[in-house]
Amino acid sequence: MQTLLTPCRPGFEKECIAALADACARRGLSGFGRAEPDSGYARFELHGADAREVVRSLSLDELIFARDVYAASAPIAIAPPDRLAPVRPHLAALGPVRDVQVGAPDTNDGRELATLVRQLEKPLRAALADARVRIGEANPGRCVLFLADGATAYLCLGAARQAPPWPFGVPRLRLLREAPSRSALKLEEAWHLFIPREDWGNMLVPGRTAVDLGAAPGGWTWQMARRGMRVEAIDNGPLAPVVGDDPLVTHHRADGFTWQPKRPVDWLVCDMVEKPSRVNALVARWLTRRWCRQAIFNLKLPMKSRWAEAQQDLGRLREELDGAGLQYEMHARQLYHDREEITVYVRVTGRHAE
Ligand SMILES: C[S@@+](CC[C@H](N)C(=O)[O-])C[C@H]1O[C@@H](n2cnc3c(N)ncnc32)[C@H](O)[C@@H]1O
Repeated sequence: MQTLLTPCRPGFEKECIAALADACARRGLSGFGRAEPDSGYARFELHGADAREVVRSLSLDELIFARDVYAASAPIAIAPPDRLAPVRPHLAALGPVRDVQVGAPDTNDGRELATLVRQLEKPLRAALADARVRIGEANPGRCVLFLADGATAYLCLGAARQAPPWPFGVPRLRLLREAPSRSALKLEEAWHLFIPREDWGNMLVPGRTAVDLGAAPGGWTWQMARRGMRVEAIDNGPLAPVVGDDPLVTHHRADGFTWQPKRPVDWLVCDMVEKPSRVNALVARWLTRRWCRQAIFNLKLPMKSRWAEAQQDLGRLREELDGAGLQYEMHARQLYHDREEITVYVRVTGRHAE
């Protein structure tokens, strides 16, 4: 296998290719990208390297826009009645896998393949068993059959270590009727992606304090308050009554760029629609002044240079945090619920010794 394949939000194929090229360059590897605009996936052909080895060392954090990443076969032409016939000869080479998934791009055309996707899952498992590919929890690989369209498939191998919490990075989250905005799902998805489940009982519980910059109409504030957290919601705009009337929520009609907390809080969240460099600098100030222990924020990216802007902002943030002598954990992704933006999570874990 010499190809890396990443499903992504349609329209972000070029960003995936740029990210893959940079990630490969850091490993002394080169190649070239291929993607149809708005196809919902990108490929990167490696020069003289085994994609199975490369994929094991990649992290979705360095790719930002990729919803997952696989080593992929060359395109395989599939046709009824037995669409798996041309796939079968390649299965044994996958090695032991943890799970098996069939999927298609997150596009209108891709969604029309939903029935075929479901129909192929069982026969693919059976074909893997026939090929003596072991399937079990502790195995390092993930078998993915990615249907580019009804006639073309890629047999892929992902690394079990970096599996996203949902197949193909498409979450199954339900928006409750009382949620003030669809944005509420963004924060919930970010928690699932960035906060290990075992930490939820400590970090997202009554007693924790938060500031929400650019809070209106209140989806993010609602997510935190319904977990019993005390929230200061900063926005000149009105909050939906479900959060505005909540005794856990204090609404400050103020500018999020100048408002300061009276005492440090556990969480800063920020969804202000503003220049990304400005939001980035603001969050850096909160973190380096220790006004918050952790932050989740959106960077709204300009159309033309989304990858470059994201790299620049995250680089600057690292410089600021390093300069302040902080130890920290940082992740950045384009979430399923993100549009022209990415979501960043930073948690300060300590301070370097002088
Ligand atoms: C995308 S909306 C936030 C949606 C919110 N996260 C939710 O879940 O409902 C952006 C908000 O940022 C606010 N905003 C933009 N610039 C601001 C500023 N300088 N200070 C405070 N709020 C600001 C806007 O008034 C708007 O309500």
